Amino acid sequence: MPATLTKEPPAAYAATSGSPAFFPREHTHSISGPVLTQTTPAREKDRFYIVVVGHVDHGKSTFVGRLLHDTDSLPHGKIEQVKKACAAENMDFEYAFLLDALLEEQEQNITIDTTRILFNTGKRDYAIIDAPGHREFLKNMVTGAASASAAFLLIDSREGVQDQSRRHALLLSLLGVKQLIVLVNKMDLSDYSEERFNGIVTEYTAFLSTLGLQPNHFIPITARHGENIANRGDNMPWWQGPTVIEALDSFTNTAALDDKPLRLPLQDVYRWDARRIFAGRIESGRIKPGDKIVFSPGNKAATVKTIENWNGPLLESAGTGESVGITLAEQIFVERGAVASPAENIPYITQTISARIFWLGREPLRQQRTYKIRLTTQETSCIITRIERVIDSATLESISSAEGHTLQINRHEVADITIRTHKPIVFDSHDNISPLGRFVITDNQQIAGGGILLVNDADGQKNDSHLHPTTGKVDRRARESRNGHPGAVIWLTGLSGSGKSTIAAELERQLFDLGRQVYWIDGDNLRLGLNSDLGFSEEDRQENIRRAGEIARHFADAGTILIISLISPSLASRNSVRDRVDRGRFIEVFVNAPLDVCALRDPKGLYAKAKTGEIQNFTGISAPYEIPTTPELELRTDQLSVGDCVAKILDRVNAITRTGDDWVSI
Ligand code: ADX
Repeated sequence: MPATLTKEPPAAYAATSGSPAFFPREHTHSISGPVLTQTTPAREKDRFYIVVVGHVDHGKSTFVGRLLHDTDSLPHGKIEQVKKACAAENMDFEYAFLLDALLEEQEQNITIDTTRILFNTGKRDYAIIDAPGHREFLKNMVTGAASASAAFLLIDSREGVQDQSRRHALLLSLLGVKQLIVLVNKMDLSDYSEERFNGIVTEYTAFLSTLGLQPNHFIPITARHGENIANRGDNMPWWQGPTVIEALDSFTNTAALDDKPLRLPLQDVYRWDARRIFAGRIESGRIKPGDKIVFSPGNKAATVKTIENWNGPLLESAGTGESVGITLAEQIFVERGAVASPAENIPYITQTISARIFWLGREPLRQQRTYKIRLTTQETSCIITRIERVIDSATLESISSAEGHTLQINRHEVADITIRTHKPIVFDSHDNISPLGRFVITDNQQIAGGGILLVNDADGQKNDSHLHPTTGKVDRRARESRNGHPGAVIWLTGLSGSGKSTIAAELERQLFDLGRQVYWIDGDNLRLGLNSDLGFSEEDRQENIRRAGEIARHFADAGTILIISLISPSLASRNSVRDRVDRGRFIEVFVNAPLDVCALRDPKGLYAKAKTGEIQNFTGISAPYEIPTTPELELRTDQLSVGDCVAKILDRVNAITRTGDDWVSI
């Protein structure tokens, strides 16, 4: 029987399947077909990627055209062709036209979504990514579609530092581009003045240092005449430093991550005959049969048995940039998003991360809103818990509100933020292993921003990395089996006075009488004890719900039915609890009574106080309540009796039924 390759879709996989390869890379763009057939030509792998940035009129195109010409990288006859075209139009020849002509050709025959211009210096192959004029420039840079090892930043010698030079420098710092050459261009128009050059060096060095950028070189050039690019020329005898090509060739290829510890994020798990093949792209390091590896999160250890080869003998090893399928000696359960690493050098694992983000979304990024975060093949929802600092990318001014704190990030702003993810995220510092330190935020499936993760031991970010979830010898199924019913979380949300506690008390009584393991936790009781340190600000309420959600999760895992009654006004907070509770066991009940009915009932006299301002941030009066969009149940308590409400919830709880040795919702 012919072998068949089938994707193994674990239960939780469905949520992330179909999403694009994250951080699409240059060398995978043009390759299609099953992941196992992907190979990366050695030449492509060693190619050195650079970006050229700078103010629009500071000579980028001319510089790139000249670079191609001086390194003999132009297609045969191209320069003559462009010169002829110029003559026919009665125009002076410009090197910038060369580039335009090349780009035009590429555009007609585009198979990749990142424009690349190739050249070779004799020492190695280079590719300029996101050439001038590329519309997707910022987006590609931010999303890592264009990750560069080095950058050129052009400055017009007459104009010096402009807003756009600042913005681009900021982006380079954001993207962690460490190797930087500043080109002071159009020196001919400043009379080749050494003094002018030195003035710009001093001014720009001071500015760049505020961003933590230290250029490796400043070089005075004239792109138009090709001075100090490949050749020195006679006009700047005072310049003793390197030419552009010499400086470039002296850089190391930081994209070569082969010597770093292994990072293999899983893309998919396939079944091939009886074997399970774990497929993914090696982002750093190497792998070979016999290697002891660990999958994070979850700390699952395994030994590499084979490295598969689609249509040839098994591979002896594989390295960075290669897409591989491996088999393991042990039977372990891991899924897309898990990252394989050596046992002695695992990545960071955490749910609270500090990040620097560049925002591209039309809608501002808002604190406390839920987004999706993608990092390698990992994807999870997340909440922006805090915006620490917003920087206007043109002026580099810090923007903050009157209280010194801002709640949103507008398009093209850069900010330092704290993100809380719903599932643990596996990552490395961007400085160390860049592909594992870079992320994208999506809003409604659209890439809306991206940035790098900041690792700061001092703020405790690293701490979770040393924590590993442990499991006992009794699991949820065993407990549910003994109890004779599934564990569940019945989450009652609604305004104060909507009837949550009344329903919860009756529901607990009836479930108990039915012989169920049941417990009720009320918001007021939590706030008198565990959460007595919290108030009613948006942030505190979020923490209130997070803690309540964690308790709920543990109860459900213990095979118990937990009833929990909290106003829980934030949709995102409730959804984040839903994400944490085992599938099908979260029953969100919207206890709904119109605000005026609740205010009339006013069992604790709080609405009256809220209306006079004695109580602030009161839900429904001076603080928002976000109505559930997809609750399992909605109960209109102004129309139904308590008994009817409880009966409806009991029906819903009973709808979790046993199939095989597990329980599922129907
Ligand atoms: S939540 O918004 O964080 O979910 P929670 O359910 O824990 O609120 O607590 C709500 C209870 O706190 C109410 O039943 C009420 O007794 C009391 N309370 C005191 N101040 C406020 C306020 N500003 N808004 C809402 N409830 C308040």
